[in-house]
Amino acid sequence: MSNESLENLSHEARTFAPSKEFAAAANAKADIYEIAQRDRLGFWEEQARALTWDKPWSKVLEWNSPYAKWFIGGKLNASVNCLDRHVAAGIGDRVAFHFEGEPGDTRTITYAQLLSEVKKSANALIELGIKAEDRVAIYMPMIPEAAIAILACARIGAMHSVVFGGFSAEALLSRIQDADATLVITADGGFRKGGAFALKPAVDEALKGKHNVKNVLVVKRTGQETAWNSELDIWWHDIVDRQSAEHVAESFDSEHPLFILYTSGTTAKPKGIFHTTGGYLTQAAFTHKAVFDLKAESDVYWCTADIGWITGHSYVVYGPLINGATQVMYEGTPDTPHKGRIFELVEKYGVTILYTAPTLIRTWMKWGDEFPKAHNLKSLRLLGSVGEPINPEAWMWYRDVIGGNRCPIVDTWWQTETGAIMISPLPGVTATKPGSAMRPLPGISAKVVDDKAQEVGNGHGGFLILDEPWPSMLRGIWGEDERYKSTYWSRFENKYFAGDGAKLDTDGAIWLLGRVDDVMNVSGHRISTTEVESALVSHEAVAEAAVVGAADAMTGQGIVAFVILRGGIPNVGGDELIQQLRNHVSKEIGPIAKPRQIMVVAELPKTRSGKIMRRLLKDVAENRAVGDSTTLADPNVMKLIKEGLSTGKDED
Ligand code: WTA
Repeated sequence: MSNESLENLSHEARTFAPSKEFAAAANAKADIYEIAQRDRLGFWEEQARALTWDKPWSKVLEWNSPYAKWFIGGKLNASVNCLDRHVAAGIGDRVAFHFEGEPGDTRTITYAQLLSEVKKSANALIELGIKAEDRVAIYMPMIPEAAIAILACARIGAMHSVVFGGFSAEALLSRIQDADATLVITADGGFRKGGAFALKPAVDEALKGKHNVKNVLVVKRTGQETAWNSELDIWWHDIVDRQSAEHVAESFDSEHPLFILYTSGTTAKPKGIFHTTGGYLTQAAFTHKAVFDLKAESDVYWCTADIGWITGHSYVVYGPLINGATQVMYEGTPDTPHKGRIFELVEKYGVTILYTAPTLIRTWMKWGDEFPKAHNLKSLRLLGSVGEPINPEAWMWYRDVIGGNRCPIVDTWWQTETGAIMISPLPGVTATKPGSAMRPLPGISAKVVDDKAQEVGNGHGGFLILDEPWPSMLRGIWGEDERYKSTYWSRFENKYFAGDGAKLDTDGAIWLLGRVDDVMNVSGHRISTTEVESALVSHEAVAEAAVVGAADAMTGQGIVAFVILRGGIPNVGGDELIQQLRNHVSKEIGPIAKPRQIMVVAELPKTRSGKIMRRLLKDVAENRAVGDSTTLADPNVMKLIKEGLSTGKDED
């Protein structure tokens, strides 16, 4: 969005004050910001007390910038906080998950049942020799066993490293190697878009590489024929079902490692974002309760994120389970078998809180109002959005068509690195504006600064930074300490630079403007331009590649690649080659990274020092007049590119 249209917007934007009824019953009270402001650390201690600790902490925070430790000396178990304590409190019969498979099969899992499954799975992991701090890669479809596997790891203090099921064998292998995982938990496959897809072959393919994996645990989901390596592979049911349902959980230190989750950075190598226990759980649980206003006894909460992303970690597994929520978990795609599937499930389960991504909201808008209108959505009382900036039109549509103009909308800004929500309105307390994430949560300090780290005033834009440590912050990049410091803490001294641009409107509300680095955001998924470039140049036909994220009405950004072919590769029948290249990227990284468009060019615009001027390519990709190109080493390049474009655009 240009600054100009934003300016107009913020002046004209409507403000929705919380309704009196909602405010009266809201979990967040009007004085919450002031309380946190008065005593920030005391505020976080208060939130930490909502967890069950086996030993209290002796010190709330130790901050040796950029290294934080929270709730030092405290001991707890993540899985006990999610499960055992609810069963002990007598709510074991409450439904934890209403699971709906894409083919329509269902499972209802209570807290007591979930606990028993997690204990058995923990015992199975122990039998396989998994110990505290070992790394377990989880590569699963969206089925209950994915959550069970996560909780079983946490229960025995092993670190989970969940790899999104849509990633390729190559991407899986590099994550297995980087974390040095010794166990992979997967499934034969899952159901998506009306059919069964296979997952296990990608694991087999990945494990042809170098690794220290001793076993592969395979959940039978689809029953499809599955190649078997009897030295490594074990069916989940063969080992888990025969375990004892007794397991006494050990207490771990507040700073005990909980998980690694890989995310794209500005280089080709993904970053292993590393989180620990006490602080992460505290903020995940607090934000889940306050931002979604969860009333565990009566709400049915549904976060549509896959477990392979941070949103699935914090707002499907840890936050909601700690709070004793009843959730919907859905395996499949929103248009299978029809475009009203999500709305049908909202009606079926009486969903009250729905948390999803702008890209899906825009897709619903495109499909048409008849799909939501065909279902009774009156159970809904709160709507959330995450993953990318939500445009005001989509926000208003969400409010009107899905929320029936009665549900507050929380636009929640955060990252894999922040672990939990950082900027969001609090329903019942904070007024909302369509398209704005409004203000930092209580206990969080976020600022918008200029390139000299000076705060910009209202009405101005700049870089989003976090200038105080927060409980669920990343503790580092796995095995890459220098990279941790240089990526997040070097741009502005002692301040965390999030990589996002933001603007304060005239009222001081925060508007997120998207990434300012070489990271693209495609349908809410972070993909680095360099990662796609290196996938392209790994193809024999490609000599050089430059990738940009171009504005896309549906997916936020679309991946557009410019490639120079190797000498001797004829660009005849170019379409076929372009398809090959698109598929190659999909194979190397995963279908989410498949370029929307690939253009074959003779030259790339470079500065004299050889840096590719992506800004100019972005102008071409977005069909704009090319901007200032005076720093180009060869001023004719842009003309050549525009004239000689051979484009391969594909809509799939
Ligand atoms: C973007 C997802 C605008 C942002 C939880 C951030 C958002 C990146 C919002 C993190 C939002 C996330 N408004 N932009 N409400 N939420 N982003 O690590 O660019 O997958 O840096 O975490 O998504 O993506 P990640």
